[in-house]
Amino acid sequence: MGALRGPAGAGPARPWWMAFLLGFLLSLVGSSSSPAPQQNSSVYGRRFLGLDKCNACVGTSICKKLFKEEIRFERWLSPHPHLPPANRTSYEGNYTDDSESWRPVVLSWLAPPHLHELADRGICSSAGRKSCSIEAVLRATPRFQSWARSNLLQPRMVQGLAAPMLRCPSQRLLDRIVRRYFEVVDVGSTQMKHFSSKDKLRLLYTLAVNQHPLILQMFPGTEGWPFPRYHGSCGRLVVWAAARPLTDLYESSLARRADAAYQLLHTTQSLASNSLRFNLYYTRVTDTTFGTTEDGRLSIMDASQIGIIDLQNGFHSEDPQVNHTDVFSCLSGSCTSPAPCASVRPTQSFTLLCRHVLPKLLSPKDLHPEGLSARAIAELAVCADPQHSDQRILVAVQTLKDTLQPLRPCNINYGYRYPECRYSDKF
Ligand SMILES: *[C@@H]1O[C@H](CO)[C@@H](O)[C@H](O)[C@H]1NC(C)=O
Ligand SMILES: *[C@@H]1O[C@H](CO)[C@@H](O)[C@H](O)[C@H]1NC(C)=O
Ligand SMILES: *[C@@H]1O[C@H](CO)[C@@H](O)[C@H](O)[C@H]1NC(C)=O
Ligand SMILES: *[C@@H]1O[C@H](CO)[C@@H](O)[C@H](O)[C@H]1NC(C)=O
Repeated sequence: MGALRGPAGAGPARPWWMAFLLGFLLSLVGSSSSPAPQQNSSVYGRRFLGLDKCNACVGTSICKKLFKEEIRFERWLSPHPHLPPANRTSYEGNYTDDSESWRPVVLSWLAPPHLHELADRGICSSAGRKSCSIEAVLRATPRFQSWARSNLLQPRMVQGLAAPMLRCPSQRLLDRIVRRYFEVVDVGSTQMKHFSSKDKLRLLYTLAVNQHPLILQMFPGTEGWPFPRYHGSCGRLVVWAAARPLTDLYESSLARRADAAYQLLHTTQSLASNSLRFNLYYTRVTDTTFGTTEDGRLSIMDASQIGIIDLQNGFHSEDPQVNHTDVFSCLSGSCTSPAPCASVRPTQSFTLLCRHVLPKLLSPKDLHPEGLSARAIAELAVCADPQHSDQRILVAVQTLKDTLQPLRPCNINYGYRYPECRYSDKF
């Protein structure tokens, strides 16, 4: 399956304000266009994207593409741009590199709009004010001051942030965040020497609000990780490759559901044990955490709840006697941090999967001679029950995988394993 055909010429006319906005944006991101003559329209677009709140934002890497209409989504093409932004968390859109083929993407706020608003108000009130320059208040915090002074991202600098992956950070993990950070010009160094103070504030802000875009950058699909491709961000809007939601499969044939269930178990295993020696585990899963791409491959569409334990260098837990809470600790909408890494069981991810997702794909209705065995259903219940020992749960997972393996289809719709699956059951 290739890319989507383009909506070329079929879309609504370019809204009147977009030309002005394009000029303005290009000047903002470094081209030599003249500034926008009509301020109101650019004010609208800037506010919509959250560019007026930068550098309390994610980045600007995708702004040019948005304004060149190489990314299209419903809201962007709205003929009524002056309407207040809808209270929506994400939009479906299309993305092109060559104006010929279009690929589906998700455009999503870093946090739901009403949470962004609450957090912004929280920032001002932390400075004792009703309205304020969010950026100025964040820059004045002791936490940002320590970021400004350091070329290395150190564990003490992220203490008290709510992101699950920062619960017990090793230096190696933090180095990877910096090295893979796509929103800076000179990506690839573990030192932040090439970061401007604006870059540091954006990285800190992103870590504080939602780790999702950073996980996509740290563990790219091109290296075999089960995360969608990160395309970039503009203001507080993040763009990544879309997938079909798992819920679409609930009513499909057992073969399709068995394939998804098998991949869920297999992917979860490889997240926990891989050659990079980072244990990626779930702290929460829901229906919308997962999706499947066009070639049938499982993809983790929400990486905001993934915890990480460094299996190579170990970790130091935060000193529980010291309170590291500050204004950055609650920007995600919740001030509670996930359970300490030391309390994470090796089977936590499986238990969550077997409780909240697998029962929607596999059910006693599938019990028949060519379908699921009663044993498989029983093992699913074992896997979902944390009363069992880790060892017993791992046996259940393996039994389930062995049962599901032969039920998986091997045909062209499963490009992620076809045609290899015709010749070997390893795929
Ligand atoms: C721009 O907005 C201001 C107030 O918000 C209004 O007074 C002015 O007429 C607007 N200009 C245009 C060209 O729409
Ligand atoms: C994206 O492309 C698909 C297929 O061409 C089309 O159905 C859909 O309406 C497009 N969406 C937007 C927001 O342009
Ligand atoms: C936006 O939606 C959320 C829940 O989805 C709700 O709690 C909030 O009040 C809404 N805000 C506005 C301004 O409608
Ligand atoms: C830490 O301090 C914040 C206020 O600075 C307070 O709200 C929070 O309850 C404290 N947490 C603990 C565990 O003491």
